[in-house]
Amino acid sequence: MADRDDGGLAKNAKNYHPDVPQAGGGFFLKGGEGCDWGTKNRLARMFSSKSGNTVMLAFDHGYIMGPTTGLERLDLAIPPLIPFVDVLMGTRGALRSCIPATAEKPLCLRVNYDSSVLYDDMSNGGGIACDIGNAIRMNASCMAVQTFIGAAGEKNSLELLARTVDAGTDYGIPVLGVVAVGKQMERTEQFFLLATRLVAENGAHLVKTYYCEGFERVTAACPVPIVIAGGKKLPESEALTLAYRAISEGARGVDMGRNIFQAQNPIAMCRAIAKVVHEGFTDARAFEYYTELLQTENK
Ligand code: 5RP
Repeated sequence: MADRDDGGLAKNAKNYHPDVPQAGGGFFLKGGEGCDWGTKNRLARMFSSKSGNTVMLAFDHGYIMGPTTGLERLDLAIPPLIPFVDVLMGTRGALRSCIPATAEKPLCLRVNYDSSVLYDDMSNGGGIACDIGNAIRMNASCMAVQTFIGAAGEKNSLELLARTVDAGTDYGIPVLGVVAVGKQMERTEQFFLLATRLVAENGAHLVKTYYCEGFERVTAACPVPIVIAGGKKLPESEALTLAYRAISEGARGVDMGRNIFQAQNPIAMCRAIAKVVHEGFTDARAFEYYTELLQTENK
């Protein structure tokens, strides 16, 4: 077993060079240069080549949580938001039944299943809910797989991730590795450094994780782009601050759900987040913009 680099003098010597861009570029997304043309083309549909960033809308919650607040009716909640985001992240069942096939946005298809929230600990690991043939049939631009680093399902979920990367590589479809934070998992810099790096080195082309203190080191040490999850609903100003900090500290986008579809005005929230992600707005300016949109709507 390899020695664990987990303490003593060496820990203090770590230097992530957060201000130095990753070498080996040519393609605008880090870690993408070595991929085939099809994978790059799909990534380029998801991320703006101008800002290098993306606003992904996550509405896959029902696959473990059932009808989450705000998503009681997917067919009513999601279609109005489609023009205001860059990528749709959902399950095959949700997409097929509630999202018009005319939607012109790339899909990040959730391809794994997990235990439902009825289980105390959901992190025992699930399986593949949608195989590569069906992901292609859904016209997926990306496949998302949940990983449970540091939990009972770790080995199983990394196996699912790696096999999905194998299948995706055969057909040029990139894979989003999602870092889960179960009840037993800490939301610390050390945890996210470890989890995001494991997921990237096991083949994910992009990684979804949560924001934490020291996030610029997490993004620097992860060799592929990171997008952040929003987590539980926050006041809109705080959600914009979360997005702003993440982008300022090296995230290449957001993959948000509840902080969009549970907002007072989800369309205005998508538009305000896009200002932060693509146009360099500060959180304060984006919140002002959000408030202006609300006022215009109420006139
Ligand atoms: C859970 C997921 C969900 O899609 C996503 O994180 C939920 O988004 P949010 O937390 O922003 O509501 O990947 O692991």
